[in-house]
Amino acid sequence: MVSLKGKDIISALDFTREEVEHLIRVAEQLRKEIDEKGILDYAKGKIMATVFLEPSTRTKLSFQYAMVRLGGTVIDFDVSTSSLAKGETDVDTLRIIDGYNPDVIVLRQKKPFFPREIAPIIKAPIISGGDGWNEHPTQALLDVYTIWRELGRLDDLTVGIMGDLKYGRTPSSLSYLLSKFKNITIYYIAPEPLQIREDVIKNIEGKVTYYKVNDVSQVIEKLDVLYVTRLQKERLPDPSLYEKLKGSYKIDKEFLSKFKKIPIIMHPLPRTWELDPSVDSLPQAKYFQQAQNGMYMRAALIKEVLGV
Ligand code: NCD
Repeated sequence: MVSLKGKDIISALDFTREEVEHLIRVAEQLRKEIDEKGILDYAKGKIMATVFLEPSTRTKLSFQYAMVRLGGTVIDFDVSTSSLAKGETDVDTLRIIDGYNPDVIVLRQKKPFFPREIAPIIKAPIISGGDGWNEHPTQALLDVYTIWRELGRLDDLTVGIMGDLKYGRTPSSLSYLLSKFKNITIYYIAPEPLQIREDVIKNIEGKVTYYKVNDVSQVIEKLDVLYVTRLQKERLPDPSLYEKLKGSYKIDKEFLSKFKKIPIIMHPLPRTWELDPSVDSLPQAKYFQQAQNGMYMRAALIKEVLGV
C-alpha cells in the first residue's frame, strides 16, 4: 500500500517507483473529476500555505489552482510586503506560518537543501517547490507524468536533457525520478561549463546508462524525449559567463527539420533563447501541455500528502 500521508516531499530520490505510478493514477483520476465538476471537495476544510522565497509562475500557481480545485483553501505568503524586509530570517518566518497550523506548506527557497534542514522543526508536511540549484521534485513528477501520457511508458526510454545542467534544479530531479525505472538511457547535452554535476552522477550511477555530449545533432535521432532547459542567469557565479554561454545551445524548427526522427520536446519553462517559438507549431512540442499536466499532478500530490 502506497501512503504519502503527512510526508515531506523534498527530493525526487525519496520516491519509489510504486509511489510515482500511484500518483500518476491519482492525477489521471483527478483530471477526469476536475474536468467534469470544476471544484471537488477532497480538501474541504484544509489549508495550504504557499511560501515562495524565489520567483515563480507555474509552480506556485499550479499548486494554488490544484488546492482550490480540490476544495481547499490557500494562504499565500507575500514576500514583497513581508517582514523579511525588516531582516526576519526564513526560519523564523516559517515557524510563524507553521504556528497557524496549515495542513501543508509548499516552500521554494534559494538555499540548496534548506527544506531538509527546516523539515524537522516544522509540524506541517513540507512540499519543496525547488531549493536553489539543487532539486525540484514536483517538477520531475509532472515531467514523468507528461512522458507517460505522451509515450505510454516509463521503462525503456532514451532521454536527452539539454542546457544548463549544472545550475538548473530540474535536470537533477528528473534524472533521479527516471532512475527508478528500467532500461533508462540519459544523454546529458551541454557545453562543458554547464555539464551535469558530480553529485547528480553519484546518485544515478549504476541505475541508468548515461553519456555526456555537447552537440545535440549527434544524438537527437536516438531520443524519445528532448528536455530543454534555460541558462540559469541568476545562479551563475560570474555575469560574464552568461554572455559567453548565451546561445551556446538552441533549437528551432529549421534545425529540427533536418532530422528524420524528432523526439517529443519538453521544457520546464520559462524559456529564453534556447527554445525558439517556431518549435511551438510542431506536433512534438509538449511544453505547454507539460505545464498544464502540472496542476493535475500537484493536485494528486496534495491529496495524497493530506491523506484525503
Ligand atoms: C524551473 C525552476 O524554477 O527551476 N521552472 C519551473 O518551476 N517550471 C525552471 C527554470 O526556472 O529554469
